Amino acid sequence: MYATTEDVFSLKTVIQSFRNWPKIFRLFWTVQKGYFITILILNILQGLFPVGMLYVTQEIVNAVSRGVSQEGDTVVISFLFFLSFILVKQLVTLIQNYVEGLFQSLLSNRLREMVLDKASTLGLADFENAEVQDQLKRAQQETTYRPYQIFVLLLSIVSGVISLVSTSLFLVFWKWWVVFILVLFPLISFYSYFRLSQQEFYIRWSRAERERKGWYISYLLTHDRAFKEVQIYKLGSYLITHFRDLIKQFFYEDKKIAKSRLKTALVFESLTIAMIGLMSFIAIKAAFLKEILLGNLVSYIQGITLTQTTSQSLMHSLIGLSQHNMFVEQLFVFLDRDSSDPVKQQKVDIPAPQENDPFVFESIEFVNVSFTYPETERPVLQNLSFKIKKGESLAIVGENGSGKTTLVKLLTLLYKDYEGQILINGTDLNVFDLDQIRTKIGVVFQDFMQYEMSIRNNVGFGDLSLLHHDDILYDALEKSGMRSLTEGLPKELDTQLGKWFTEGLQLSGGQWQRIAIARAFLRNADLYILDEPSASLDPLAEKEVFDALNLLTKERMGIFISHRYSSAQYADNIMVLDQGRIVEFGTHTELIRLQQKYARMYNLQASPFVAQS
Ligand SMILES: Nc1ncnc2c1ncn2[C@@H]1O[C@H](COP(=O)(O)OP(=O)(O)OP(=O)(O)O)[C@@H](O)[C@H]1O
Ligand SMILES: [Mg+2]
Repeated sequence: MYATTEDVFSLKTVIQSFRNWPKIFRLFWTVQKGYFITILILNILQGLFPVGMLYVTQEIVNAVSRGVSQEGDTVVISFLFFLSFILVKQLVTLIQNYVEGLFQSLLSNRLREMVLDKASTLGLADFENAEVQDQLKRAQQETTYRPYQIFVLLLSIVSGVISLVSTSLFLVFWKWWVVFILVLFPLISFYSYFRLSQQEFYIRWSRAERERKGWYISYLLTHDRAFKEVQIYKLGSYLITHFRDLIKQFFYEDKKIAKSRLKTALVFESLTIAMIGLMSFIAIKAAFLKEILLGNLVSYIQGITLTQTTSQSLMHSLIGLSQHNMFVEQLFVFLDRDSSDPVKQQKVDIPAPQENDPFVFESIEFVNVSFTYPETERPVLQNLSFKIKKGESLAIVGENGSGKTTLVKLLTLLYKDYEGQILINGTDLNVFDLDQIRTKIGVVFQDFMQYEMSIRNNVGFGDLSLLHHDDILYDALEKSGMRSLTEGLPKELDTQLGKWFTEGLQLSGGQWQRIAIARAFLRNADLYILDEPSASLDPLAEKEVFDALNLLTKERMGIFISHRYSSAQYADNIMVLDQGRIVEFGTHTELIRLQQKYARMYNLQASPFVAQS
C-alpha cells in the first residue's frame, strides 16, 4: 500500500486515516455503553482539576499573606477546601483507572474476536497471499491497544483543552501575549515530531513480513512438528542466528528513531526551558515591584508551567493520535477486506431453485475447465472435460505436480477463477447455493488436519450437528477402521489426541489419516474425495478404506487420488493426468488395452522389482 516513505507522510494519508473514527466510536459504544459514558465524564472532571487546584492554592497563599488576624476563617476554609479537593481528585483517578482497565480489556477482546472472525471468512487464495498475511499480522499486532489509545488521547485532548483554556484565563488577565507565546511555541516543533512519528509508523508497517519470518522461526524451534528435523539436521543454531539477525535489524531501526527523537527533544526542550525562565522572570520582577500579590506570583508561575506543559502535551497527543490512526487503519484494511472465497463471495440472494432443495448430486461434469493459480502465469489444469455420475467412482492418477490436488480444490469450491464450467446435474455450479454444495462433499485432503483435540472433535468436525451422536460417530470410525481402537480406550470418544495437551494419545500417521477419513465419512455427502489416502495407509488398510468408500458411493460418487495403481484399478473410471491435461480416461481394462502411460505405470508397479509402497 505504501510504496515509499513519502506516501506515509502525505497529508492525504493522514486525513484518510480519520475515516475510521465513526467505526471506532460505534465499536466503543457497542462494547460497553456504561463504561464508555463513565470514562467520558471522569475525564472531563480531570480536565477541570488543574484550574481548581490553581484557584485553591492562590486563595490560601493570598489569605495567609494578608495576615492571620482578619482572614483566619478564610485560611481554614480554603485549607479544608484544598484537602477535600485533593481527596476528590484522587478518588476520581482511582475510579477512572478501574473503569478504564475493564473497558480496555473488553475492547481488546472484542477486537481480537473480530480479527479472528474475519480470518475465518477469508478464502484459500487469501491465505496463500503474503500481502494478506502481512495485513493479518498488522491487524493482530495493533489490535489490542491502538483503538483504545485513540480514545485515551482524544479524552486527554478534551481535558487538555479544558485545562488549557481555564489556566490560560489566569494569565490572559495578567499578560495576554504570554499565553500567546506559550501556546504557539509547541506548534513550532509540531512538524519535526510529526515526521518522526510517521517514520516510526512506516518502519513498523514495513516490518510485518520480517516479523512473520521471525515468528516462523520461533514456531520451528518451539513445536513438535519441526522438532525431529531440527534436532537431526542440527538446525537449532542456524535458525537462532537467523532469528537474531532479524531482531537485531529491528533494534537498529528502533534505535535510529529513538536517537532522532532524543535530538529533537533536546533542542525543543532547551528552548522551552529558556522561554519558561523568561516568563517566570517577568512575573517575579512584577511581584518584586509590588505590581502583583505574592499569591498571584505563585499562580502565575504555576500557570506558565501548566499552560506550557498542557499545550505541549496537546501537541504530542495530536501527533500520537495521527500515528495511532495510521495503525488502526491497518486493522480496518484487514477487517474490511473482501473474501476471495467463492462461497462467501456469492450473492446471498441467489435463488436456489426450489425443486433442487434438498437436491442430490446426480452428476458432476467438467467442461473445458482450465485453471491458473492467482498471481501465477502457468496454467495448472488445461481443458479438462469429464463426467461422473451417481453410483460411480473415479480414480485420478498422475505424476507429482500433474494437478490432481488442484482439481480437488476446484471441486471443493476453494478457488473461483477457473475457465470453463463445472456442472452439477447439468447446471452451472454457480446457480446453486455454493454453501449448500460444499456441505455435500466429504473430503480428506492430502494435507489433512490433525486436530489436537478429542476423537469426538476430530471426527465430529465432519458435521458439527452430529458431534454428540455417538452411534453415528462410531459408525464413521468403523468405516475407516478405527472403531475397535477407540472403543478400547478408557475415555473412548473423549480421548484427547496428539501431544500438545495433557493426556493426549499420539497416533501413528496412518491412524491419524483414518481419523480424517472417518471425519469425511461422517458427513452425509453426495461426493466423497480422498486425496492420496495411500500416503500413510498400509496396503491392507488402504484396501479397507477403498472398500468402505465403494460401499459409501454405491448411491453417491467417489473420487480418489492415488499413486498406487493396484488400488486405482478397482475404480469405475480412471483418469490419467499429465501436466494438467487428461491424457487417458477409461476403465482399467480399457486403459491396459491402450498400452499407454497407465498401462506402463501399472506394469511397472506390478513388476517384482518395484516394492509396493
Ligand atoms: N497454492 C498454489 N499456488 C500456486 N501454485 C500451486 C499451488 N498449489 C499447487 N501449485 C502448483 O500447481 C501444480 C499442481 O499441483 P497439485 O498439488 O495439483 O499437484 P498433484 O498432482 O496433487 O501432485 P502430488 O502428487 O505431488 O500431490 C504444481 O506445479 C504446483 O507447483
Ligand atoms: Mg496432490
